[in-house]
Formats: sequence, structure tokens, C-alpha cells
Amino acid sequence: MLLSIRSLTKVFPGTRALDGVDLDLHAGEVHALLGENGAGKSTLIKCLTGAYARDGGVITMEGAAIDPRSTLEAQGLGIGTVYQEVNLLENLTVAQNLMFGREPRKWGLVDSRALRRQAQAVLGQYGLDIDVDRDLGSYPVAIRQIVAIARAVEISGKVLILDEPTASLDAREVAMVFDVVRGLRARGMAIVFVSHFLDQVFELADRVTVLRNGRRVASQPVAELTRMSLVEQMLGRALEEVVEAPHEGSEAAPPLLHFTGMGRKGVIEPFDLTVGAGEVVGLAGLLGSGRTETAELLFGIRPAQSGTARDANGDIVLSNPRTAIAAGFGFAPEDRKLDGIVGDLSVRENIILGMQAQRGWARPIPRGQQNKLAEDYIKRLDIRTSDREKPIGQLSGGNQQKAVLARWLAMNPRFLILDEPTRGIDVGAHAEILRLIGELTRAGMSVLVISSELDELVAVADRVIVLRDRRHVAELTGSAVGSDRIMQAIASEGEAA
Ligand SMILES: Nc1ncnc2c1ncn2[C@@H]1O[C@H](COP(=O)(O)OP(=O)(O)OP(=O)(O)O)[C@@H](O)[C@H]1O
Ligand SMILES: [Mg+2]
Repeated sequence: MLLSIRSLTKVFPGTRALDGVDLDLHAGEVHALLGENGAGKSTLIKCLTGAYARDGGVITMEGAAIDPRSTLEAQGLGIGTVYQEVNLLENLTVAQNLMFGREPRKWGLVDSRALRRQAQAVLGQYGLDIDVDRDLGSYPVAIRQIVAIARAVEISGKVLILDEPTASLDAREVAMVFDVVRGLRARGMAIVFVSHFLDQVFELADRVTVLRNGRRVASQPVAELTRMSLVEQMLGRALEEVVEAPHEGSEAAPPLLHFTGMGRKGVIEPFDLTVGAGEVVGLAGLLGSGRTETAELLFGIRPAQSGTARDANGDIVLSNPRTAIAAGFGFAPEDRKLDGIVGDLSVRENIILGMQAQRGWARPIPRGQQNKLAEDYIKRLDIRTSDREKPIGQLSGGNQQKAVLARWLAMNPRFLILDEPTRGIDVGAHAEILRLIGELTRAGMSVLVISSELDELVAVADRVIVLRDRRHVAELTGSAVGSDRIMQAIASEGEAA
């Protein structure tokens, strides 16, 4: 056994985040760590890497007790970590990032030729042949992710921890990262893999440990598990069938918004789009195909250079997000970390923030109403928090995300754009969010959903628009909305449909 954890306990005020957790890691295995939002996965990892001081328990590495007090110390002991938000510097070069703190020197100065050569050699082991003198930020996320993994492995070399590493990658990029992970497994590393994507767990992991409410439910070989049994372990109850019935009457839905010839050079080719009242329109396509760019155009983040937006009352101005909000639009962006949360405000304050801004700060929402709204959304989205006054920064990642979604829902827009609304959100809440979208549209709200999970799009959308290379290339309606058809449209080359 490479590493073993016994009776690990971590207590935060009001929360027992980890309660006597055991975990064994073997050399040459990929060990998936699963559990609902707030189950304790990130906390376990932070205790292991010394980012948090644990309140109890013993960690042994190759038979000897270890007690890392910082991530640096953990690295020295052989434990490296890559988080979802790549913790590298985008405006340093690839080589600088890779060798940071260990630069080869000559006469006291960084030897940039040796630096380049060493960096190339390291990345060569991962089958990556890229220009290491370019800024890291100029590469796609998957490459950045692999550079981060390479750096962690170079520094540490025994245990590699990946906390939701694939959350913002498309299918091809996931395959790339998985190849790298398999190579490391073959070299005898132990890899801890945290993910909410069950398919990926079945594809990559050898063993799985499930956490629930800070306790270990089970550790078992993947081969002995079914998807259903895994989900039931995570939830601690049987999962109801969650398939949303197809939407009725979308044909009859009166058009609410007409976008004509909207485009922006180098961002998205001009497109036409009509959105019906109560309709769910899905946007499908690979990462970088122009889905997020479409959303940003519609919300005035990157305003259109051509085209018009109209509703029954005439032209709508979408020159910046403020005008879009005034027009009754809402946009929950993909990167909620960057945009969404205000870490030291409470859950309640984060939820009412949008409404309050809309109303104007001069007219504060009465406290009683704030409390009621917050309680309501905490319940509806099953936001796990000990109370509504807790600083949102102390919630688990998935629960922070739900609170940002609640903020937009509370503003009650007529047209809501959701960019990857279920990313990082566990299976139970996942189903709940899809159900909620159905409920909102039945009440008349129109929704534009961007999602990389085709099954999810098929379940929720009345109509799906497929993008490729920053163009709208196909539109599927009614019975044509199916994941096979979407895949075909994404993959097919050539003329626009
Ligand atoms: N710094 C902190 N202060 C107070 N409570 C915290 C802190 N960090 C985590 N918690 C609490 O500990 C519990 C476990 O959180 P953790 O982040 O480990 O969950 P997770 O399994 O990683 O969830 P997710 O899938 O949403 O990322 C949650 O109840 C969370 O609110
Ligand atoms: Mg987490």
C-alpha cells in the first residue's frame, strides 16, 4: 500500500465535514472519490495536501506516518494536486510554468535555453509537442491541464490528486487528459480522481470510494459496480427516474424574441434565432464552437456588430449586460467562480444580490422578504448549508454554483441563458435543475441552455441549435432532437444545414 488514511476527521463550525474517513491508495491505481455536493471530497483532499489542518486521524505513506502542514510539504512527500481551476500563471510561458522554482541557472541567471530544452523533454513524455515559449494562457484548457499535471508529477511523483480536472473540457480533450493519466498509472503512480461525471469514473477508475455527509460509505472495485448502485450509495436512497417528459406545444408557442443577422467579427458568424415564449432552446457544439460566444452576444457582454434583436414592442438594445437585464434577460455564465460569487457575503446576500441591483440599492428589499426568498431557493435547489447566513465561500463548490443559479432565478427574467447549468453539480441536484427548467418554462419563461452533455440537452430542449467553428450549422426540432443527430451535426464537415 502506498498511502493510507485512517479515521480522518475535520470539523468546521457547524459542520463535521469529515467524520472518521478511511482511504487506501495503491501504487498504479486510479481511485475515484465520489459524493454529492458537500460530501467532503475537497476537504479530504485539502487535509491530505496540508491545505487544511486535520482535527484527527492518521496518514501513512509507505508505512511511515506523515503530517503535511502545507501543500509545499505535501509535494516534498510526493503528493501533488491539480485543481479544476488550473493554478498556474497564464502570462508566463509554458516552460516557465513547468519549471517554476526549479529553473536551470547559469551564473546565477535563468538559463533559458536549458529551460526550454528541459520543458520540452518533460512534455515529450506526455506526447505533447508544443511551443514552450508561448504563454500558457494562449493554449486551450486541456493543454494547460496537462502542463499542470506534468508539473505536479515532476515535483511530487508518487500520488497525484485531480479535483474535478475535466469539468471544462470537451470530449476530445478529456480523452487527451485520460491518456496522460493512464500513462502515469502505468508508471506506478496512485491517482485520486474527483469527478461528478459517472461515465468518466467507469471509463478511467480502478476503484471507487463514496463519501456521504463526511463519512465513507464504501470503497470498492469499479468492476463490481453498476451506475445505479453507485448513485444510490452517493444519495443514500434509490433514485427516481428523472427523464423529463418532452415539452408539449412548442410549435404553438408564440415567438417572444427575434434575433436577426446578429454577429461579431472573429467571435461568431451572423445568425438568426427566434425564441418562443416558454421554449427551451439548446446550444450544442464542441468547446470553442461558439456557444458561449453566442450567449455573450445575446447578453451584450460582447455586443453584436450587426443585426437586430426585437420583441413584440420593437427593437431591443443589447449593448451591454445592463441593457440586457433591463430587457428582462438573465445570464448564468459558465465560469461561476470568476463571475458569480462574493465569497464573504452570506448565502442569502448572494441570492438576493441580482434582485437588489435591479431594484436599485436605494430601495433595500425588506429583510423578512430576503429571508423568505433565500430559504425558498435553498430548499428548491437543495443548497447544502447549515444556515442562510453562512458566508458562501464556505460552501462546497457545487453548492456555491446552485446559489448563483438561484440569484438569476430570483430575478425572474423572461429570457434566461444558462451556460452549463449542471456542471460540477451532483446527480441529485442535476435532476432537480432540469426539473426546475421545465417548471419555469411552463410558467412562461424562455430559456437558452448551453450544455456539453447531449443527453441533458435532449431531455430538456424543444429545439437544438448545433454550432461548429463559430457558426450556427444546424437546427433540430421535435422528433429530430436526439443525441445521435446532434453528434452527426457536430461531426459532419462542410456546408451549413
Ligand atoms: N472553509 C470552510 N469553512 C467552513 N465550512 C467549510 C469550509 N470548507 C468546506 N466546508 C463545509 O464542509 C463540507 C464539505 O465540503 P467540501 O467542499 O469538501 O464538499 P465536496 O464534496 O468537495 O463538494 P462539491 O462536489 O460541491 O465540490 C460542506 O458542508 C462545506 O460547507
Ligand atoms: Mg469540491
